[in-house]
Amino acid sequence: MKNVEFTVNGETKNIYIDESKRLIDVLREDLGLTGTKEGCGEGECGACTVIVDGEIVDSCLVMAFQVENKNILTIEGLQKGKEIHPIQEAFLEEGAVQCGFCIPGMVLSAKALLDKNINPNESEIREAISGNLCRCTGYNKIVNAIEKASKKLKEDE
Ligand code: FES
Ligand code: FES
Repeated sequence: MKNVEFTVNGETKNIYIDESKRLIDVLREDLGLTGTKEGCGEGECGACTVIVDGEIVDSCLVMAFQVENKNILTIEGLQKGKEIHPIQEAFLEEGAVQCGFCIPGMVLSAKALLDKNINPNESEIREAISGNLCRCTGYNKIVNAIEKASKKLKEDE
C-alpha cells in the first residue's frame, strides 16, 4: 500500500492505495466515482477517459500511484449542484446519448478540447474524440452536440 495525495473534482484526497490498482479501479472502487466506465481495459475504447492536469487519459492504462499530486476531473466533477454542464446539456439536446456507456468519456474528451479551443471545426472535433468508441450513435450527433456546446460556452464567456 502507498499513501498518495491527489485532487479529484476539486477535492483533495489523501488515501492508501494498493499499488497494483489502476486509476480506474481507485476511482470506481475506492472513491465510488462509477461514472468512469471500463470497456476494453486496454486503452482502445476511451470509456474510461478522465482528465488529468488538463489532458485526457485512459484511466485503465495508468497506475493509481502515478497520479500523486495531480489534478483529476471525472464526469462527476462537471455538474454544479443540480446544474449540468453546458456540454452535457448539448449532448441531451442533440440526442447524442443512446445506451450512454461511452458518454462520460466522450464528454470529457469534448471538455479537454473546448478548454483549449473553444471554436473547433468538425475535423478537430472528430480528432478529439477519435479515441472514444461509440457502438450506438454513428458519431454525427455527438459531433453536433460538441459544436452546440462550443456555441453555448462562447455565449457564456
Ligand atoms: S476501458 Fe480504458 S480504453 Fe477501454
Ligand atoms: S451511446 Fe452507446 S456506446 Fe455510445
